[in-house]
Amino acid sequence: MKRPLIVVLNGPNLNLLGLRQPDIYGHATLDDVEQVCLQAAERLDVAIDFRQTNGEGELVSWVQECRSRANGIVINPAAYGHTSIALLDALHAVELPVIEVHISNIHRREAFRHHSYVSQVARGVICGLGVRGYAHALQAMADIIEDEG
Ligand code: DQA
Repeated sequence: MKRPLIVVLNGPNLNLLGLRQPDIYGHATLDDVEQVCLQAAERLDVAIDFRQTNGEGELVSWVQECRSRANGIVINPAAYGHTSIALLDALHAVELPVIEVHISNIHRREAFRHHSYVSQVARGVICGLGVRGYAHALQAMADIIEDEG
């Protein structure tokens, strides 16, 4: 049987993980995050497509593409979570389960990070658990896909 496909999307500046504010985001790079996701996917017997972009339009297009090919979306929208109604609309339109991830605990940070548009469409939100949050999100998404067939 074909393995379910979970698309893992990463928004702006996450290409700088490891270099960027390590006191907040830690020392793991985006390649390390991809490895965490690949190991979780192997264990869960799901396929993943792991991507990062700095562009809001590109992120919206990638979400739209998921409609015909994916079973679920795990997304760290980064700053676009706080600002992008276009991203929220795309996530609604795609009609797939969504789990939102933030490496840092956005609720312990500046007030402008406390609100996320993506949370309105997400089944669940994992924040503050570092890059391990991605593995937890993949586990939860695999469970959702299995339960909802
Ligand atoms: C982030 C939190 C956001 O507030 C921030 O803009 C990011 C990263 C996180 O993973 O903790 O770029 O999404």
